[in-house]
Amino acid sequence: MKKQLFSYKNNQLHIESIPLEKLANNFGTPLYAYSYKALKENFLAYQNALEERPHLICYAVKANGNLAIINALAKLGAGFDIVSQGELERVLAAGGDPKKVIFSGVGKTQAEMQRALRVGIHSFNIESEAELDMLNKTTLEMSIQTNISFRVNPDVDPKTHPYIATGLKETKFGVSVKKAKSLYRRAAKMAQLHIHGVDCHIGSQITTIEPFLEALDRLLHLIDELAEEGIIIKTLDMGGGLGIDYTEEGISSPTTYMTALLERVSGRDLSLVVEPGRSIVGDTGLLLTRIISIKETEDKKFAVIDAAMNDLHRPALYQAWHSILPLTQHSAGESKTYDIAGPVCESSDFLGKERELNIQAGDLLAIMDAGAYGFSMASNYNARPRPAEVMVRGEEAKIIRARESYEDLMRGEAKFD
Ligand code: LLP
Repeated sequence: MKKQLFSYKNNQLHIESIPLEKLANNFGTPLYAYSYKALKENFLAYQNALEERPHLICYAVKANGNLAIINALAKLGAGFDIVSQGELERVLAAGGDPKKVIFSGVGKTQAEMQRALRVGIHSFNIESEAELDMLNKTTLEMSIQTNISFRVNPDVDPKTHPYIATGLKETKFGVSVKKAKSLYRRAAKMAQLHIHGVDCHIGSQITTIEPFLEALDRLLHLIDELAEEGIIIKTLDMGGGLGIDYTEEGISSPTTYMTALLERVSGRDLSLVVEPGRSIVGDTGLLLTRIISIKETEDKKFAVIDAAMNDLHRPALYQAWHSILPLTQHSAGESKTYDIAGPVCESSDFLGKERELNIQAGDLLAIMDAGAYGFSMASNYNARPRPAEVMVRGEEAKIIRARESYEDLMRGEAKFD
């Protein structure tokens, strides 16, 4: 959590210069609110650290694909990491430069490849032999050339939640180092494809830099072995994965990570690519919610709120911890222990468990660090319209996505009569 941008003034929680209560009153709840200043700060941390090297910071659109966020990052010079045509269309609609787009993902369709080739993206990160063959065929059919990297699975334990670990050999992602070598040899003979780089992405919410450095060493070794065969790798893409400090225990920063990365590649003629998602947007946003009622059972106290697992899936899916703050610090009353639950009909519908809070029905709460994988994973489960999103800069607040209506919920459906 960025304490200078999300802080109490006169006992009222603010985002930049605006009391969050004002946003709740103006735009309703549940509401995602993001700080532009935080976004810029996070991006610049990567950019400043990498200044001395040719580099491309490809923001991972899946973390938060709102057009305003993509547009703000594009203006700061970002490239984009995409995993679907939908994400590509978002980048194009938001004014992102296709020449700075990298296409990752384990299941690109031929139609998606064609669209990406037509708009002239920077490079494809290839994840299997079948995909290499499909891209080769597509480029031949279209008489187009393109850059490729192979996503190598370095078999490194990122020490994160198993659902978001991707660089272990039992996962579906990438190819082994051994397989990569044979694929590079094959690709070297494909005239339409330019071998450009090597890529990996070992997981997400990684809090120390050691797993990255372990993966890096394996990639550098592969680069050296390929060079002996005359296959020259010019770009090293370390993927995304750096975590944010949800629990405020202290974790490695982008600057520390980038500095270590630069040190390890010094003396090598490599340009660098990173694909950060969470560490760019995660701590820039929060989910604002109102307490509908307080419910006490024989065993527990629940604060039932108007946001739910469909709005922010992470606690239900990964038992993820998000700090929950009251918007008003009451001087009267006392703190009690609550589970913070939504109205959805699932026992896993909680946003936080056993939180000490001095609250009452009608109060507003902020679920912090919800900028990444919050709205982008939201669904309409229980026929709940998805929340609005608002961007704040100083004293200015602008809706960057309207709240869904009940009409939106049923769009495209038809009765069968
Ligand atoms: N590049 C690739 C190829 C990826 O698969 C991902 C994330 C990223 C970059 C960005 O990773 P980041 O810097 O955000 O860690 N829904 C989960 C996270 C899933 C991450 C999937 N891949 C969560 O809420 O924790």
